[in-house]
Amino acid sequence: MIPPPRRPGRYAVALVCLGNICRSPMADVVLQQRLLEAGLADRVTVASAGTADWHVGKPMDPRAAATLDAHGFDPTRHRARHSTPTWLADFDLVLAMDADNLADLGGGSERVMLFRDLDPDGPGAVPDPYYGGDDGFEEVLAMVERTTAVLVREIGGALAP
Ligand code: 4NP
Repeated sequence: MIPPPRRPGRYAVALVCLGNICRSPMADVVLQQRLLEAGLADRVTVASAGTADWHVGKPMDPRAAATLDAHGFDPTRHRARHSTPTWLADFDLVLAMDADNLADLGGGSERVMLFRDLDPDGPGAVPDPYYGGDDGFEEVLAMVERTTAVLVREIGGALAP
């Protein structure tokens, strides 16, 4: 179960990984597309960020972008950003990709969870694909797609009157 919105009728989700060029950008793009298809996009804010600031302002990793593109998603608008505590405080739900990202976020809030806590095949980490081969990006996308389906249903429920 995801936490209720702070403001009725709106929901804001932040997706967080390490570099914000692979995992959380892929989840960001897929979630925004699925929310659009579900007719929820105008009531939901989605953003992603990294716990590290190394790639701020850069587009997605080309392998992440190619994987999204091959599956019909548009990766071109992403630019990496750094997650700061002040920025995260505005979100109803913050989803970390792995346990390190979760620990870096400080924990202790019911609004901060692991992304794959919502995976029907989870829970677990979304493994970091940065140092691996192209298979890793396909694996991440499969996790993201099935988890996003659950997340969209839960957001729909949280927004229902
Ligand atoms: P991400 O992957 O956290 O899924 O964006 C990584 C991106 C960059 C690095 C590590 C992981 N890096 O070491 O630069």
